Amino acid sequence: MKTYQFPKDFLWGGATAANQIEGGFNEENKGLNIADVLPGGNERYKILMNPGFDFEIHRDQYYYPNHEAIDFYRRYKEDIALFAEMGFKAFRMSIAWTRIFPNGDELEANEEGLAFYDRVFDELHKYGIEPVVTISHYEMPLHLVKEYGGWRNRQVITFFERYVKAIFNRYKNKVKFWMTFNEINSSLVMPIQGLGFSIQKEEDKYQPTFQAYHHQFVASSIAVKACHEIIPNSKIGCMILFAPVYAFDSNPENVMYALQEEQLFNYYCADVQVRGEYPAFMKRYFKEHNIELEIQDDDLELIKEGTVDYIGFSYYMSRTEKKVKTDEEEAQGNIIGGIRNPFLKASDWGWEIDPVGLRISLNKLYDRYQKPLFVVENGLGAYDKIEEDGTINDNYRIDYLREHIKAMSEAIEDGVELIGYTSWGCIDMVSMSTGEFSKRYGFIYVDKHDNGSGTLERKKKKSFFWYKDVIATNGERL
Ligand code: BG6
Repeated sequence: MKTYQFPKDFLWGGATAANQIEGGFNEENKGLNIADVLPGGNERYKILMNPGFDFEIHRDQYYYPNHEAIDFYRRYKEDIALFAEMGFKAFRMSIAWTRIFPNGDELEANEEGLAFYDRVFDELHKYGIEPVVTISHYEMPLHLVKEYGGWRNRQVITFFERYVKAIFNRYKNKVKFWMTFNEINSSLVMPIQGLGFSIQKEEDKYQPTFQAYHHQFVASSIAVKACHEIIPNSKIGCMILFAPVYAFDSNPENVMYALQEEQLFNYYCADVQVRGEYPAFMKRYFKEHNIELEIQDDDLELIKEGTVDYIGFSYYMSRTEKKVKTDEEEAQGNIIGGIRNPFLKASDWGWEIDPVGLRISLNKLYDRYQKPLFVVENGLGAYDKIEEDGTINDNYRIDYLREHIKAMSEAIEDGVELIGYTSWGCIDMVSMSTGEFSKRYGFIYVDKHDNGSGTLERKKKKSFFWYKDVIATNGERL
């Protein structure tokens, strides 16, 4: 039997985002952010995919699951102790921008928000767990959305700069690993969360979307440079949603189409953030979509100087593409598009399960960039059942993770430099796309349900003990 190997200092752990775990949405001066106005259930998915969202809270109509989430805000000590029990080397989390700058445009940071993350980082260090921090994970201050139009507005760069400098200065002795924007490329399909505005009409999407992206690239470079200056031994990465694109068949038209989709979705943002310049294929794309970017004098130089140290990415699925699709084919695809791949099974939410795709992704990214890679999200959203004896036998999750971990080891053998793996949703939390609690990813079960009921009690699943053993043997016993 093959043994799977990982580097000695491999960063095993789990991943979360502030808005999906913390709750305490208005505690200690925290301001509202985008996640606070997204309702649970089907409505959320429709909002994310459709134009015309109003960014208001309608309590009479909806339940807002992120307001309490799983109350990590109060229970972080208990949760971190459980992560430590599993042997985590790293914990990926994000800082809620609105705890630090409640509206986003203040001049002074909110001391209570800063103090909260001090406590969390101290608790992690108590157990030797390395924090891996996403600076912006779908949590833009609502005030910047409503008053400034989100990332469309260049002024937001200045507010972001203030925010990143405040957190780098405050946590310079506590956090070494950073990432700028979560799944920056996802805004190409879901602009609301990443770019902070809703497109009113389909045909109006190009110019504002790509202008907003330009602002994020400048902001990302400012963050990278500031991080290196303020925290000399730090590593700061980009974070992309990577889903390798397969052509449905060997028809060259489909192969070309798959390549173009891959360029736009998987590589456009990473090329800018890793290589420091807009890729050649975007020039044609901008021309064909009548996009004229407003670029200020020093922007391109700044982007060149502020390139990232590593590539963080999420991997959940591959995507299969065909140039001409029927509506029916289209409807059966994954959340990010494409058509059904006949060789793959899918999760209960229709996300196709493809461990080999992770090895492919790692090879593609390393071939292209030759920078260290970090799988900062990967996991299976599934319904879990508590047995009569109180156990939760999530063998399906163990199978999923085992195959993906094997794929990473294969990629390492292929020569890929991979520094860590933080599986998504190490503890059950609010789903980003559906706002459900029943879409569970965790090694730790949380008693919280789609209608908001539940005691919030934590319970170890079978996968908890399995992952603990994986970490203890550095991936040798899977
Ligand atoms: C990623 C996001 O796209 O997928 C996370 O960065 C998210 O925030 C994760 O939770 C899983 O998606 P979902 O919709 O199942 O929660």
